[in-house]
Amino acid sequence: MSVRKCLFPAAGYGTRFLPATKAMPKEMLPIVNTPLIQYGVDEALAAGMNNIAIVTGRGKRALADHFDISYELEHQIRGSSKEASLAGIRRLMENCVFSFTRQMEMKGLGHAILTGETLIGNEPFGVLLADDLCVGKEHDVMTQLVHVYERFGCSVVAVEEVPREETYKYGVIVADEIESGLYEVRDMVEKPKVEEAPSNMAIIGRYLLTPDIFDIIRETPPGLNGEIQITDALKTQASRGRVLALKFSGRRFDCGSVDGFVEATNYFYQRMKERG
Ligand code: G1P
Repeated sequence: MSVRKCLFPAAGYGTRFLPATKAMPKEMLPIVNTPLIQYGVDEALAAGMNNIAIVTGRGKRALADHFDISYELEHQIRGSSKEASLAGIRRLMENCVFSFTRQMEMKGLGHAILTGETLIGNEPFGVLLADDLCVGKEHDVMTQLVHVYERFGCSVVAVEEVPREETYKYGVIVADEIESGLYEVRDMVEKPKVEEAPSNMAIIGRYLLTPDIFDIIRETPPGLNGEIQITDALKTQASRGRVLALKFSGRRFDCGSVDGFVEATNYFYQRMKERG
C-alpha cells in the first residue's frame, strides 16, 4: 500500500525558544525565510505524501493560515517581483490537502500521534517532527523511509549516531544490523540516563508507521514524565512483529535547540547564496 499521509505533531509549546514562541508556534520559526513546517511539508510531498495531517493546539492558528490563501497579501503583490517568494508555498498548497485536529492536553508524542488517528485512519503514514530539519543526500529522509517500508511493510524509524552524552535527549535503540545501515530493533528506551543508554543510536523526528500502532498506543501506559511515549509503543510493536531502523544518509539539524537552529540558518543561508 502506498503511503499517502503524513502526520505532523505540532501542539507543543516550544518552551526552549521562549520568548519567540510565546504567541507564535515554534513550527513557524523561520530558517532564513521559510518556516520549519514548510520544510517538513516539502519533504513529505517529495516522499509522495500529499495528505498532510497536522495535530495542532491552542495558539497555533498561524499553521493553518500559512497553508491557506492570503487574499489581501496576494492581491497586494500581484504582478510584482515579490510574487516569486510565494512560489514554494503555492506549490505545496496546490499539491497537498491539509487537515487539522487539536490536541487538547500535552500528554506526550504517543498521545499526539493517537490524536491524529482520526485524520489517518487505517493506512501506513509518515510522522514528521518539524523541529528536526533534515537534508537528505540523494533522497530526503522521509523518502528513504518509504523505500524501506516498500520492501519490508513494517514500521521504520530514522536513527542517527549521537555523542554518548547526548543520548538522554532521544529515544535510543538496541538493534541488529540486517544489511548495511538497516537494523532490526530489539529494544528501545525513551531518553535514558547517559550512564544507562544501551547504545548511541538515537531516533530522530522521522517515522513511518503501520496503523496497528494506534491500538498499541491505546494500551501503552504513561512512561517517562507520565507521558504516553511513542518509543514505548514501538517497543511493543517490535516485540510482536518487526520494527526497522534506518541510519539515514544526510544531515539533521535539531532546530528545537538554539545551537541547531543557528547551524541550520547558516547552512541554508549558504545554500541560498550558492543557488543565487
Ligand atoms: C521525541 C521522541 C524521542 C525522539 C525525538 C526526536 O522527543 O520522544 O524519542 O528521539 O522526538 O526528535 P522530543 O524531542 O519531542 O522531546
